[in-house]
Amino acid sequence: MADKQYLLALDQGTSSSRSIVFDRQGQIVAMSQREFRQIYPQPGWVEHDPKEIWDTQLATAKDALAKAGLTAQQIASIGITNQRETTVVWNRRTGEPIHNAIVWQDRRAEPTCASLREQGLEALFREKTGLIIDAYFSGTKLKWIFDHVKGAREAAARGELAFGTVDSWLMWHLTGGQVHATDVSNASRTLLLNVRSNTWDEELLKILDIPREVLPAVYPSSHVYGQSRAELLGASVPIGGVAGDQQSALFGQACFQAGLAKNTYGTGCFMLMHTGAQFQTSTNGLITTSAAQPTAQPEFALEGSVFIGGAVVQWLRDGLRAIKGSGEVQNLAETVPDSGGVMFVPAFTGLGAPYWNADARGAIVGLTRGSTVAHIARAALESIAFQSAALLSAMSRDAVAAGGSPVSELRVDGGACVNNLLMQFQADLLGIPVVRPQVIETTALGAAYLAGLSSGVYANLGELAAQWKVERRFHPTMPRDRAHELMQRWEHAVRQTVAA
Ligand code: G3P
Repeated sequence: MADKQYLLALDQGTSSSRSIVFDRQGQIVAMSQREFRQIYPQPGWVEHDPKEIWDTQLATAKDALAKAGLTAQQIASIGITNQRETTVVWNRRTGEPIHNAIVWQDRRAEPTCASLREQGLEALFREKTGLIIDAYFSGTKLKWIFDHVKGAREAAARGELAFGTVDSWLMWHLTGGQVHATDVSNASRTLLLNVRSNTWDEELLKILDIPREVLPAVYPSSHVYGQSRAELLGASVPIGGVAGDQQSALFGQACFQAGLAKNTYGTGCFMLMHTGAQFQTSTNGLITTSAAQPTAQPEFALEGSVFIGGAVVQWLRDGLRAIKGSGEVQNLAETVPDSGGVMFVPAFTGLGAPYWNADARGAIVGLTRGSTVAHIARAALESIAFQSAALLSAMSRDAVAAGGSPVSELRVDGGACVNNLLMQFQADLLGIPVVRPQVIETTALGAAYLAGLSSGVYANLGELAAQWKVERRFHPTMPRDRAHELMQRWEHAVRQTVAA
């Protein structure tokens, strides 16, 4: 073990596959990234080619090892983290997918969801899975495949097909078809798992007409799932950790206990708060999900997502042509002291938690003769913070309703968290410190930590918590009255988009 002090994290995201080598202190040694095709067969549908997912992932793993100057023999364990909910079905004998992967953003299963809601099944799904019935999750995507690929349901019932989220697909290939498994955090996004017992639920499988034979085995997130085939990376390496990307980021942020919360600022924003061993249902528009679980003990989190986070900056660049590169947004926004009363609600694809309005569309309100593109840029940046603040306030209300305390600080990660203006405004709106860690690649780090725990690189969670170091803490400076007034104006602007 002594020479095996490195961990390899495979971070399979929606737009790219990445691999990162970490040392045992959780520092990045090398990183590699490759984008792959987004396939849009018709409006509202999004697919990936599963083979491209695997090919790009393997290529980045080899590249990251080469850049690190390491051999696979020096890797103690592999951790996998992935875009969640994305659904793949493949033939167990040939390894060939029977359909493109249906991506989490894909809305094609909405008619199935509407019918389930009409049958009054929402409470049942919520009680068992923690989720709302929405086309976002895997179960209804899987049903769509069985309903549309000829003979697939029957072949699945004969045990010829395998279903998996992207973690399962990667593991299958890494192990040469030896392992068909997933972890609890990914399984909790399928609408098929009873998250209290961590077992596939017969009643839900029946409702969705899914043959049990197609499902992967479910294990804790830190677990030795199998060994990678030696010919792939030059030596066989254990696969020791698996978690969905948002739960992995929560773990990488060392949010191991109830009340600790993180927000990832990517294309969208995903905020999760750990709720310990307590399955807690939100009364404020959030979903309940399994946290990454280092042991067989169920652990949960509340989650809310913002659909358009950093993507609003892309729109400023590509739609409005207000900036040439995303990096320019902070400079432009800083040319004005505030947004001059402009509010930008980027409800381009509807609004996610806590509003849940699929029909809302974007709006820029409060324009005057004095408004400039800089005010709009500032309002666009601020919209990321407003939406996240609405999520955090929902979380704090849920935490208090469950007898806990409001969230006392927010840990941040993801690409846009490097924007100091945004982070300061976020702290101002929230009225609590916003804390940026030294390593902001916390999604990959979480998977590496889970792998490191099962392979003995780390003895316990305390060791990991001690490695989490603050790079910068943003303290709120805005008077609370002013923050409340701004939130009220935000909510007013949101109401206008819903009415539109
Ligand atoms: O639930 C979807 C989420 O897991 C996707 O994350 O980072 O690949 O956009 P990302």
